[in-house]
Amino acid sequence: MEKLVIKGPTPLKGEVHINGAKNAAVAILPATLLIDGICTIENLPNISDVKISCEILEKLGAKIKWNSMNSVTIDTRHINTTTAPLDLTSKFRASYYIIGSMLSRIGEIEVGMPGGCKLGARPIDQHIKGFELLGAEVNVGNGTIHAKANKLVGTSIYMDIVSVGATINVMLASVLAEGTTTIDNAAKEPHIVDVANFLNTMGADIRGAGTDIIKINGVKKLTGNCTYSVVPDQIEAGTFMLAAVATKGDLLIKNCITKHLDSITAKILEVGGQVEDYGDSLRVYCNKRPLKANIKTLPYPGFPTDLQPQMGVVLSLADGTSIINESIWESRFQYTQELNKMGADIMAQGKTAIFQGVDHLSGAPVYSSDLRAGAALIIAGTAANGITEVYNLEHIDRGYENIEEKFRAIGANIERVSY
Ligand code: EPZ
Repeated sequence: MEKLVIKGPTPLKGEVHINGAKNAAVAILPATLLIDGICTIENLPNISDVKISCEILEKLGAKIKWNSMNSVTIDTRHINTTTAPLDLTSKFRASYYIIGSMLSRIGEIEVGMPGGCKLGARPIDQHIKGFELLGAEVNVGNGTIHAKANKLVGTSIYMDIVSVGATINVMLASVLAEGTTTIDNAAKEPHIVDVANFLNTMGADIRGAGTDIIKINGVKKLTGNCTYSVVPDQIEAGTFMLAAVATKGDLLIKNCITKHLDSITAKILEVGGQVEDYGDSLRVYCNKRPLKANIKTLPYPGFPTDLQPQMGVVLSLADGTSIINESIWESRFQYTQELNKMGADIMAQGKTAIFQGVDHLSGAPVYSSDLRAGAALIIAGTAANGITEVYNLEHIDRGYENIEEKFRAIGANIERVSY
């Protein structure tokens, strides 16, 4: 087992390079199943969710060659089974994208019930509704999902909830369907646009990704023979932006699309930090105690739930009382109990948390309950006085490449230690 040992406080200073987006990568990899050919995906983050996605593809018959730590060439010409490995698909959330892709390519698939961070109930009714409207039969039971379709036919699908996963999954299922599919009330996150761009590069005809109406004109075949580079990770960039503010540091965050970070920039300015926008990089700095602010998480372009815990660290140290309303997930305040162990004063109940800002945090042993909670605890440990030990690193390793090396390179005193 491993833990991170962090000695603070350190104002983080220097440059940090942002990797490709986890939540785009874990959708683009299964999307390669739609291609009857070979393609190369670059700028993949080297994280455990990506490695498991590749293992699942291999078990389905794809041939994968790693060109470097961040690039793979995938040959999906010989997909030879309709059963995805149940143990691997149950390990993480995005395995549900295998369903949309395989329904489209082969017409049948069985996967394990998707796992992933425990953020509350994570229903997939909107995915299933979309598949059924396209003509598939879907059965859920005994920890598996089985979907089958003789033929998928384009139709109009209204999403009752704005869902990233359901929007992408229905897009995947309809790329090779007969006729036109319209997804109404679609999610608009940058990774949705990225998946659509990838599919269009491979020969799909998807229009409107990034707006709330996406139109997919079915095509006969995707042929591949292309190279595609994954979009920079908006959440990793936001994590370092907020780390700069919480530690009263000064960071140049390179290789990001600054437009994707507008909601975070707005909140950083509100709490008294400074942001300089250079288009593909951002300088974020803060030389005083942050001010209070209220946050409500929302689908893009609102403030992302995946940066709520990291923002929570900033507000735990702010001058005054702040309120966060988490509108996406039921259980995303587990990290507040850990911050309270470090001297924070946070009261969380249901989807609301009240932060009475304190002027410093103190190191303590803390447990990461999910991926972004883990990132928040690393920021807190870097800002806190004394030694913080962060446990449950498997959550963090699912989504951040070399996190401790990146923090160390900008001044943090952080070590990964076996115990
Ligand atoms: C994606 O999860 C991300 N995961 C999550 O990132 C992120 O928190 C979330 O989108 C919201 O931005 C991946 O992309 C792999 P949703 P997803 O479907 O697709 C409800 C991280 O830390 N809902 O947009 O599973 C659902 O319960 C993670 O990187 C239904 O009711 O999220 C939630 O309240 C964790 N029925 C809301 O919609 C459905 O069929 C949004 O969920 C689907 C969703």
